[in-house]
Amino acid sequence: MIDQPTVDRIIDAAQIVDVVSEFVSLKKRGVNYVGLCPFHDDKTPSFYVSPAKNLCKCFACGKGGSAVHFVMEHEQLTYPEALRWLANKYHIEIKERELSNAEKQAQNDRESLFVVNEFAKDYFINILNNHIDGKSIGMSYLRNRGMRDDIIKKFQIGYSTLTHDAIAKEAISKGYKKEFLIKTGICYEKEDGSLRDRFWGRIIFPVHTVTGKVVAFGGRVLNSDAKTAKYVNSPESEIYHKSNELYGIYFAKQSIIKQNKCFLVEGYMDVISMHQSGIENVVASSGTSLTPGQIKLLHRFTENITLLYDGDAAGIKASIRGIDMLLAEGLNIKVLLLPNNEDPDSFSKKHSSSEFQRYIAEHEENFIMFKTQLLLNDAKDDPIKRAALIADLARSIGLIPNDIVRYACLKECASILNVDERVIMNEIKKHVEQRNDKLIEDAFKQKNGGNIPSIDDNSKTEEVQAAAANIANEIQYQSYIPEVEREKLLFYQKEQMLIQTLIRHGEKVMCIIDTEETKEYPMTVIEYIASDLKQDDIQFHNPIHRKVLSEACSHLHDNGFICERYFLAHPDPEISRLAADMLSSRYQLSKYHAKSQKIVEDEERLFELVPHLITDFKFAILQEEMKHTLQALGKPEVVSDAEKSIKIMEHYKELSEIQKEMAKRAGDRVVLKA
Ligand code: CTP
Ligand code: MN
Repeated sequence: MIDQPTVDRIIDAAQIVDVVSEFVSLKKRGVNYVGLCPFHDDKTPSFYVSPAKNLCKCFACGKGGSAVHFVMEHEQLTYPEALRWLANKYHIEIKERELSNAEKQAQNDRESLFVVNEFAKDYFINILNNHIDGKSIGMSYLRNRGMRDDIIKKFQIGYSTLTHDAIAKEAISKGYKKEFLIKTGICYEKEDGSLRDRFWGRIIFPVHTVTGKVVAFGGRVLNSDAKTAKYVNSPESEIYHKSNELYGIYFAKQSIIKQNKCFLVEGYMDVISMHQSGIENVVASSGTSLTPGQIKLLHRFTENITLLYDGDAAGIKASIRGIDMLLAEGLNIKVLLLPNNEDPDSFSKKHSSSEFQRYIAEHEENFIMFKTQLLLNDAKDDPIKRAALIADLARSIGLIPNDIVRYACLKECASILNVDERVIMNEIKKHVEQRNDKLIEDAFKQKNGGNIPSIDDNSKTEEVQAAAANIANEIQYQSYIPEVEREKLLFYQKEQMLIQTLIRHGEKVMCIIDTEETKEYPMTVIEYIASDLKQDDIQFHNPIHRKVLSEACSHLHDNGFICERYFLAHPDPEISRLAADMLSSRYQLSKYHAKSQKIVEDEERLFELVPHLITDFKFAILQEEMKHTLQALGKPEVVSDAEKSIKIMEHYKELSEIQKEMAKRAGDRVVLKA
């Protein structure tokens, strides 16, 4: 662990213009610098670097932040790795925090495993290139399959001879410990205690993590023989969790970011062949179905995934189930079917790179449409099968989190199936409602400390029932109309504005207030926000925001505490990134500026700005809750239950009372300028 003073020194030393210039050619424009964004396929310079703020930002794709963030993003490093990278650049000596003995042991173990894997990788490469068997058997096999030398080198492909203990002997003689040879799975121990190699007589493909460390190997036999498994793979270990790795991600990541798209294929050979034909944004799940961990990993780089299938229908049907998981993650999935039993490997060998690219552009298809067609061919006119098909599709569509995308999909599906939109809509509604119910319930629980509010009710008037039925009716008629994203996110936006003000100005005194203890107490923005929210028992919705507020409160009285500085240098990268985002101008509070004719700095108006933002925030929360309450009234089980309807109506009334009260209070509140 790097100690805090060293972290501070690194952050102070890292000049944003200097760091970005290592990768992007910058031109001066006014007080800033601009260049082509390295994170997307930029045609006009959208990447701004501000020496004054020591921040950078792309105004097209939104990526950027402090120098540390830039390095993290560009080199795909973790926060501590990026700090080390910068320390190296600025020749800053790293002072390590003392690790506990347990931490040391764990770190040593992990590092030893990486060291052993690195040795093994080099060993296999050396055999392929220099050993007589490597050259005559291994290399000629690869050449026969049409693999180019530069590609063999890039993917660090190797070979293991037929001897059963060659690498074991070599490793031990070089001083590598038996323990780590076994833990990495490069060797295993026989009953008599001797070591045996896991890989012999095979082509070796190292598996790299996203940062390029070797965590495992796959070994392919050379001659197809039904008796031996085609591949032998490294076992799981402390450094290798198969379900969290994707083959090829290290070589693909830059291209995935640039193209904002990733191809997903089955095997090692598919990844390698596609690289050879110039398509580098490709990874493999290595023969198994995708796991949530792999999906998360991909989602870090892009939302757009195209699955490459060979033309075999049975295989496709089997793999379709797993795809729903991708939809639920909010990814855009396309499918590309290759002609009659070609796989990406064989296809890329028969076609030029540009033919391959053209084939992709012409044949990739939205996953849901693809699935619709596929199932429709099966169902034909069988009404039972068609009903099952609609239910199945509705479930997939219902998983799409974005309302607008979901609605577009629904429309297209209805037209392919030639049914009324509402038929599918009603099916989807079932699935979406189930999910939303849970969300609403969770939100209530969070706000009310685990309890869904109950209101004593003893007045069952017909009037209330009629009103409830009316609302229910209306909602039913509205059916399922997608909400506009912006509206839904209103209170998140307000929350964000508050957090922005806190990060920018938290430690500043915003007003003088008489408290019970002290007269004329100079109150900081942090204290004001914290006490005001506490008074109404409101918490930020986003856990990171909650953490920011609570840390700001506990550090407020530290010597020389400055919010901006503290959060920018925060060891939790999520927090430091948030701070950088909030300090660059994406969420400018410009509409407040516009109110008064002249531009007034936020800083001079904190005494009115902060209370204003808080009221806005509370209003937005209330509105959201009122909307949910109304929606709850439309549910069939509520419509048919008078008692439930009444309870909900009462709750709604209570909320609107609060809203009125709040509007009044907002006008009353007077604070004096500091
Ligand atoms: N696989 C495996 N074990 C096996 C067979 C396959 O782990 N016994 C995994 C490998 O990751 C392999 C992927 O499944 O890359 C896809 O299998 P396949 O298409 O058979 O292998 P390829 O790598 O495409 O090899 P080749 O083209 O040489 O047959
Ligand atoms: Mn294959």
